[in-house]
Formats: sequence, C-alpha cells, structure tokens
Amino acid sequence: MPRIQPHLFVIFGATGDLTKRKLIPALYSLMQDADVARRCVVLGTARSDWSDERFREEAREALRDNGYSEEAVAKWCTRNLYYQCLGTEGNDYGQLRDRVEQLERHLGLPGNRAFYLSLPPSVYGPAIEGLGDVGLNDSSGWTRVVVEKPFGYDLDSAQALNDQVHRHFDEDQVYRIDHYLGKETVQNLMAFRFGNALFESMWNREHIDRVEITVAEPLGVGGRGGYYDQSGHVRDMVQNHLTQLLTLVAMEPPASMEANAIRDEKVKVLNALQQPDPETDVVLGQYAAGTMDGERVPAYREAPDVPADSITETFAALRLNVANWRWQGVPFLLRTGKRLPRKLTQIAVRFQSAPISLFQSDGAPCVPQNADCEAPPNELLITLQPDEGFDLRFEVKAPGTSPDGAMALESQHLSFSYQDAFGPVPDAYETLLRDILMGDPTLFVRADEVEASWQLYAGLLDADLPVHPYEAGTWGPAAVDRLLATWTSGGPASPPA
Ligand code: BG6
Repeated sequence: MPRIQPHLFVIFGATGDLTKRKLIPALYSLMQDADVARRCVVLGTARSDWSDERFREEAREALRDNGYSEEAVAKWCTRNLYYQCLGTEGNDYGQLRDRVEQLERHLGLPGNRAFYLSLPPSVYGPAIEGLGDVGLNDSSGWTRVVVEKPFGYDLDSAQALNDQVHRHFDEDQVYRIDHYLGKETVQNLMAFRFGNALFESMWNREHIDRVEITVAEPLGVGGRGGYYDQSGHVRDMVQNHLTQLLTLVAMEPPASMEANAIRDEKVKVLNALQQPDPETDVVLGQYAAGTMDGERVPAYREAPDVPADSITETFAALRLNVANWRWQGVPFLLRTGKRLPRKLTQIAVRFQSAPISLFQSDGAPCVPQNADCEAPPNELLITLQPDEGFDLRFEVKAPGTSPDGAMALESQHLSFSYQDAFGPVPDAYETLLRDILMGDPTLFVRADEVEASWQLYAGLLDADLPVHPYEAGTWGPAAVDRLLATWTSGGPASPPA
C-alpha cells in the first residue's frame, strides 16, 4: 500500500479562515499515523508577523474547536508546525526559500514540497511568480502547487492564470481544488454509475426526462461580503461545484479510472454543453430580508462589505443542454442559492413515464399525454448532503380495491443511507490533501477543464440580466417557477422535497 512520503507542506494564507477551519484539522487527521507524523511538517506563511509559537497556538485552538483534546494535539503542534512571515508586502520569497531549505536540512526531509495557495484570488499570480523566481518550483524531491477556487474570474483571466502557472510549473505539478470533488458522495457518483449496470443502461435521452441539480444553503454571505459581491453566485458556485456535479452525471464511462481518462471524459461533456441563453435559460435572484427558523434575517444588501445598492446575484437557476448523442434534448436544471430554506445538495434524475398507462379509473389504457393519465415517473434522488444516500421512487399497488374497482397505485421509496451503512463520511479536505500528498490528480480540475467551464458561462457573465429579489427562507424568486414550468416537458419541476 503506497504511503504518504515525508514532505514539507507550505500553507500560503496560514493566518486565514480556511487554514483554521479546514487545512489544519485535515492535516492533523492525516498525520494520525505516527510514522507519517514524524516526517511531515507544515510551514505556515502569510504577511502577519507571527512566530512559530503563535501559529501553533492558533492551530491548537482550531483543533480544540474540532473536538480534539489539548493533550493529544500539543505534541503534534510543537513538533510539526512552523511559521515564516512572508514580509509585510507578502513578497519575501527569498526568505521563505531559505527557511524551507533550513527546515529540510534540520529535520532530514528529502525535498518533497506542497505549496497550498489559500489566498485571495488576486494574489494567486504573484504567488506563483514568487515561487518560480526563487526556484521553489523545483526541488530534489517532488514539488506540487495547490490552487483554491475560484481559478480565474472569467475565461480570459483563467487562461492568463493558466499561462502564468505553466511558465513555472508543469501541469502535473498543479492541483486545482474544487472541494466538492473531495466529497465522498460526489466520488460515489462514478461508483454508482459505472459499478452498476442496472442504471447505466438507462442513463440516456431514451429513458431520462430531465436531471435537476440543487445546491441550497440556508446561510447568507456572512463575513465574506467583500469577496462575494465581486464574484456573485454564478462564479462562486455554478461555474465550479454545480458544473462539476453535472459533468459527473453526464460523462461517458472512462477507459479506466486513471486521472486523465476521467478528466478527458469530463472535458468532453463541457465541450458538448451549449452556452445557456441568458434571456431564456437563466434566472438570477438576490435574497431580501426574511424569516428563517423563526428569526428575522437581514437582506444581502445589509451584509458587511456589501454595497446597499448591490445587484450581485445570490441565487441562480439555469437550464443546460448537453448536445451529444446521449443527452440531446434532456434538460439539466441547475438551482442554487444562499438563504434558501435548508441545506441540500441533491441530484434528481427523473425517468420518463411508462409509454402507456394501464391504471386508469375507467380501466382503459391511455398514452400519457396529460397529467390525469400519467402515473408518477420513477425518480432517483442522489443526496450528497446532508443525509447522504440514494432514494428511488417507484409505484406499488396500494392494498385493497378503490371504490370504482380500479387498482390504485402509491409511490414508495427504496432508500440507501451512507451514514447507516458506513458511519460518518470523511471530510472533503482530508480526502483532497491525501491525494495531493500521494500525487493523485484525479479529483482536481485540469487546465483545459477549468477553461471549458468558464467558456460555458461566458455569455451569461457578460449579460446584463435582471436580478429578482426573493425572501430569505424561500426557494428563490417566483420567476423561477414560471420558467421551470416552461423548461420541462413533464410539467413543473419539483421544488426539492
Ligand atoms: C464554497 C463557496 O466554495 O462552497 C461558498 O465559496 C459556499 O460560498 C460553499 O458556501 C459551500 O460548500 P459546502 O461544502 O458547504 O456545500
């Protein structure tokens, strides 16, 4: 079994929120193996003039918040964590290189290095240049650079950033993160599709009526108003997380489970996707004040660092068409927003109705042209969070006989719960960090993939679309229901259950 090799894990933005909430807990958890822990060292860097001790104290606090006991983490923090100030301008890469080399010598590390850029997107470029200029893009071992999302702001900036990255690093050194790909249930989409012939044979336009992808969050923008108002929901969620989910649902079986075989198939889906028509295929919204769990929540425009007249969208609904033999004509409906009633990440695959309905009250079979004549179609719900699992809706005969003597049908569910079968699912960041340290790029976004997904939304990002207000705690603006009804052949798309 391959193991994590001794390495130095350098975190840019080490004083930030992601480091505390996700990276330190994930690294600590990975290093529970005593042998790994002894030779895997974390060097935090940022502009703040912190000491090693201050970084360790912050890490101890982060781990305490994650439920670890003080005694258990103390040794790891002291032995494995170091900090180097990157200068008040954040550009002292020479000193950083000296510290990296000094630590490696002192701790007997072989020169394997991962550089994790947990930085504001505007400084990804300078950080890449800084590493390259002082020769930190190469070493006696392996060198990998990890870039958080968003990778670029649009197609042009993503291309420019890719060019800049490739001036200093080879593509196989680059790990572009989309944390949705680290979620166990997202990876399970591939296992579910390609490990089970049952559904795969029906996974096409002959049998599927539509696919709905919902990513709903009850939270607002919190303290991230500054970033979010510049970005908006299409850039923050649709271009990356929802599009990744779509590619996994729509891709062809890869030739193997090797990273590039999988990523090739995802890129083919992206290339087959038609740009949505901003006028007819998109509804944007922004949350107004509302009531959630009995509490009044303020409007988006009242969030810190958000202008009072902001027209940034916090909600998006889109219809996409994958123009290929498998999917042509099957709408992929994406719906995502902040301040929606509850947390839900779900893919609903709606199968076509039976070609003829035998269960009419007058006993006469009829072709399902209208709702009266139609048994509810089978639906497969793949829930990615919370309550991870599957749910297959099908029809059974309700016991007894109805007054008119006809056989009555009732919808029932076959369910599988991840939690019941396997217990808690691992954290996405732990999975992704392990893969970076093992050198497995499968769950990371390749350069052409990120560009193709920006290309898909180029027209939408340029369009000047109305942003409809919706009350916090509702499923989005009313305009969505009207549009969803016209988008789908089988009547209005269901609001999430
Ligand atoms: C991030 C977005 O990438 O994903 C956030 O920037 C969003 O705005 C978050 O809240 C959602 O992630 P998850 O894992 O909670 O669904």
